[in-house]
Amino acid sequence: MTTILDGKLISEQIQAEILLDVNTLKAQGGKTPHLAAVLVGNDGASETYVAAKVKACEKAGFISSLVRLPETATEQELLAKIDELNKDTAIDGYIVQLPLPKHIHEHKIMEAISPQKDVDGFHPQNVGRMALNLPTYLPATPYGIMQLLERYKIDTAGKHCVVIGRSHIVGSPISILMARNAVPGNCTVTLCHSRTANLKEHTLKADILIVALGKSEFVTADMVKDGVVVIDVGITRIASDKTKSGFKLFGDVNYEEVAPKASFITPVPGGIGPMTIASLLINTLKASKKEVYN
Ligand code: GUN
Repeated sequence: MTTILDGKLISEQIQAEILLDVNTLKAQGGKTPHLAAVLVGNDGASETYVAAKVKACEKAGFISSLVRLPETATEQELLAKIDELNKDTAIDGYIVQLPLPKHIHEHKIMEAISPQKDVDGFHPQNVGRMALNLPTYLPATPYGIMQLLERYKIDTAGKHCVVIGRSHIVGSPISILMARNAVPGNCTVTLCHSRTANLKEHTLKADILIVALGKSEFVTADMVKDGVVVIDVGITRIASDKTKSGFKLFGDVNYEEVAPKASFITPVPGGIGPMTIASLLINTLKASKKEVYN
């Protein structure tokens, strides 16, 4: 039997829990959490993601601010905005939506974000704290995966977890988190990437397969064993005249083929995407309560 890991449902539960918490905070005269998002340029997918984050903030009773800079903004201009956000005591946490235009160095920007306000968990200090299992903001997508595994009570200890993709946003941090001595965690982890030889030999050994490479329907039924837990992080937008939005979303896994072999699987959409947003809200609430740094 295959169980669908319903990220939409779980994220709604988490958002309802957050709203309760925020209402209690407000009733006690506490601070309303405030998240800011910085969007540079007009990338279609980034626009969609940031709009979803802002909407989720409103639903959870947060204040949200959207800071827009043009595609042509210089690195200096973005750094000046970051300096402003770091100093603004009204803002608890903020994110700079990636990818950035090519002329801006992502690392320079991530390092400029105050670690205390880095609710994406991308600052090198927070990445280090994650690796050392110290209190920090976990990056939203990996954190969302961990929460989904936890809420569905999926036993991960001693399991072989195969991750495809080594991005700083998903593949690399989730491989660290799944190997940590924690729950969920305690996996034996194999991290596969574009230079991995004989990928299928690895994926066939996976008890848990986490796919984050951004190639639609890349994982096929012949690549997985029966009973595998499949976490599909990919969201590729492909133009379609059959939908109102003008595009259709595809995961990195061929769902129709792979689902019958899986014990658990995330759908696309409605799997990891909503969990990412719920995790960002949790991190912002933690920032507002000063739970990570005080
Ligand atoms: N682009 C894709 N995923 C993310 C994310 O989690 N945070 C930010 N800031 N940008 C992204």
